[in-house]
Amino acid sequence: MKHILITGGAGFIGSHVVRLFVTKYPDYRIVNFDKLTYAGNLENLTDVERRPNYVFERGDICDYERVAEVLRRYDIDGIIHLAAESHVDRSIEDPFGFARTNVMGTLSLLQAARLYWNGAWEGKCFYHISTDEVYGALPLGGGHFTETTRYDPHSPYSASKASGDHFVRAFHDTYGLPAIVTNCSNNYGPCQFPEKLIPLFINNIRHGRPLPVYGRGENVRDWLYVEDHARAIDTIFHRGRIGETYNIGGGNERSNMALVRELIRTTDRLLGRPEGASERLITHVADRPGHDLRYAIDASKLRNELGWRPEVPFGEGLERTVRWYLDNGEWLDHVTSGAYERYYERMYGSRAAASGR
Ligand code: NAD
Ligand code: DAU
Repeated sequence: MKHILITGGAGFIGSHVVRLFVTKYPDYRIVNFDKLTYAGNLENLTDVERRPNYVFERGDICDYERVAEVLRRYDIDGIIHLAAESHVDRSIEDPFGFARTNVMGTLSLLQAARLYWNGAWEGKCFYHISTDEVYGALPLGGGHFTETTRYDPHSPYSASKASGDHFVRAFHDTYGLPAIVTNCSNNYGPCQFPEKLIPLFINNIRHGRPLPVYGRGENVRDWLYVEDHARAIDTIFHRGRIGETYNIGGGNERSNMALVRELIRTTDRLLGRPEGASERLITHVADRPGHDLRYAIDASKLRNELGWRPEVPFGEGLERTVRWYLDNGEWLDHVTSGAYERYYERMYGSRAAASGR
């Protein structure tokens, strides 16, 4: 039996990881530790929340005493750390909040794990989920990020993630903490907060609102369906080598304009509108400051060592994603309105009481 703490399990990627682990490993205990910021939503997990091997603990990773207490209470032997402030535009507005959670929060978790495990490293794993953005930007049409690419972050978000990554490796090298880091490309799929490009644009197409493309829309991202990322995390958590870094990517590069056009065609078709009708909503707006031109991942280490590869082709993933948001208009409306807060009050008394303590 394994006792696994998943931080950020109420967020976009975290909720897919929680669902995979809770359903695939009934003999594990999965503890979802999440602060429930604006991005955390227990509605993402209603299908698994009553499983006997699942428990939710509301808490802040920056609260060292609370983290230490949860590690002890559940005798945690594995940590999959996803909790973070994750949106680049917000980091430009509030860099301190990003340093707090992504740097100090990661450090608090590392220190709590180190002291709780206290050198008994056998069977333990601290798995830190990071991003390809720490590597900086690539030129159009040239090269890929590998595990040895030099860190060169440009946004407060990626700088905070890079710093968290350095602390994880420092704890491995200095104290022997059994740690793994993975750096993944852009995820898409159900339950992503509609501030990120794909869900924001689906929601805006749904309401006939402008689609704000930053600059000329020439920036390139490498898109991975979120369930493929969750499967990669499962593979690496169980079979990855301690002390190693693995890059995870979809091998699906698209310029933002190409992606937006594909998204419009799919969404229009599923809404029963003439395909391309929503192109009139495209609005070019001021570019994001420090906007990285291109990300592209070389995932050959993960493929060759552990046999993982993405299973969901981009067209299929995009169609599944659009369908999910259109079928779950209520979810979108909840997370973008006061109904979201009212849901928590109804379900849990108040968000503050949601820890079950
Ligand atoms: P998200 O913003 O959807 O979810 C983050 C979760 O963390 C939320 O549930 C939130 O409530 C929780 N959280 C935030 N601050 C917390 C704190 N102080 N204590 C406890 N919980 C807290 O993020 P996501 O897109 O699911 O990303 C998850 C992780 O994966 C992040 O570490 C991110 O850097 C990384 N990542 C994301 C992508 C992507 O495309 N979304 C790609 C690569 C890596
Ligand atoms: O690469 C992995 C990263 O992907 C993760 O680490 C981050 O947590 C995640 O947010 C994502 O970062 P991006 O900045 O690439 O994602 P975002 O959806 O914000 O933007 C994707 C691209 O679309 C980017 O080039 C900016 C552009 N964009 C975004 C928004 C929200 C627009 O043109 N208009 C928009 O309104």
